[in-house]
Amino acid sequence: MLEIEGLETHFKTYDGVVRALDGVDLTVEDGEIFGLVGETGCGKSVTCYSVLKLLPGTAEVVKGSIRLNGEDITDASEERMRKIRGGKIGIIFQDPLSALNPVMTVNEQIGEILALHQDEELRELAADRNIPTYRSKNWSLSPGFEFTIMAVCFAFLALFTMLGQFAFGLPFLVMIGFFFLRDYLQRDLPDSALDLMVLDALSRVKMPDPRQVACSYPHELSGGMQQRVMIAMALAGRARMLIADEPTTALDVTIQAQILQLIKDIQKETGMSVLLITHDLGVVAETCERVAVMYAGRIVEQGPADEIFTNPRHEYTKSLLASIPKGGEERLKAPHTEEYGAI
Ligand SMILES: Nc1ncnc2c1ncn2[C@@H]1O[C@H](COP(=O)(O)OP(=O)(O)OP(=O)(O)O)[C@@H](O)[C@H]1O
Ligand SMILES: [Mg+2]
Repeated sequence: MLEIEGLETHFKTYDGVVRALDGVDLTVEDGEIFGLVGETGCGKSVTCYSVLKLLPGTAEVVKGSIRLNGEDITDASEERMRKIRGGKIGIIFQDPLSALNPVMTVNEQIGEILALHQDEELRELAADRNIPTYRSKNWSLSPGFEFTIMAVCFAFLALFTMLGQFAFGLPFLVMIGFFFLRDYLQRDLPDSALDLMVLDALSRVKMPDPRQVACSYPHELSGGMQQRVMIAMALAGRARMLIADEPTTALDVTIQAQILQLIKDIQKETGMSVLLITHDLGVVAETCERVAVMYAGRIVEQGPADEIFTNPRHEYTKSLLASIPKGGEERLKAPHTEEYGAI
């Protein structure tokens, strides 16, 4: 499915060249959950950004090849990559709030991806049910632009009011009133095919109350719900592969378990491949079939998860495993309890 061979990515910095990736070899097979573990700064995220071509301008892939379903995408054009991101590979990032657009509702954000990658299905659904493909709101501009106009109107209104020249502020008040009136008059438009598909995408990630969530802005949702929205977006393009870069690090433990379970369930349902990046060995042990251990820009060990956990070969893997806090009996046998007696 995804084959990475001898990948080297360098960063140009003021202090010289940083060799972030130093020959990474990695293969993710069809329909498996593959774990990539390693300590902070070892190059896990850079590997995933190199594959998706989302590296910053100072970075360059200097060597190696990346193949997706047999297609060489090492030098793919930006246009092709835009199709691949979302369409072939879904992405989930660590911090959902910074990855979501703050001025667009969940409905608009998922809808955007569906319109880009699922155009045919949308039209079929619309024809089947005899409903419009898109909800056509009259008198509307792009959400970001509308947000700017509103902000400017409020600013001028406040300014003129403060200066005691309320009359000059009136046109801005009318403008704001127009936006609210427009939304009020058009609030009951029938569901379009796009709306239905957004609701469907949200129920696939087991979102409670999808209708309410669809018209919310990202900051109105809890961290776990935001991550569910991210997963819904990653799945909206019907990608066959999912790259999750530390999907649960920003969440508390119970929500972490729910999100991991959700990823596992979806993988089982759809048979997609998942590349799960994490620095948490517990997460890997629970979720992944195969694992690669990364250290200082290289893969130092790769194999089935149970084999690596029971029989680590590389020194780094051994120390990584040794650093997990022990529970149960071994904890009771901690040296100080023997030395000082039970307390
Ligand atoms: N913008 C950058 N400029 C220079 N060097 C960078 C830049 N981004 C990353 N690097 C280098 O790449 C290395 C790997 O970074 P990367 O973000 O992939 O680590 P990571 O394994 O994802 O860590 P974490 O677990 O903290 O997310 C870093 O140690 C750093 O030296
Ligand atoms: Mg990272």
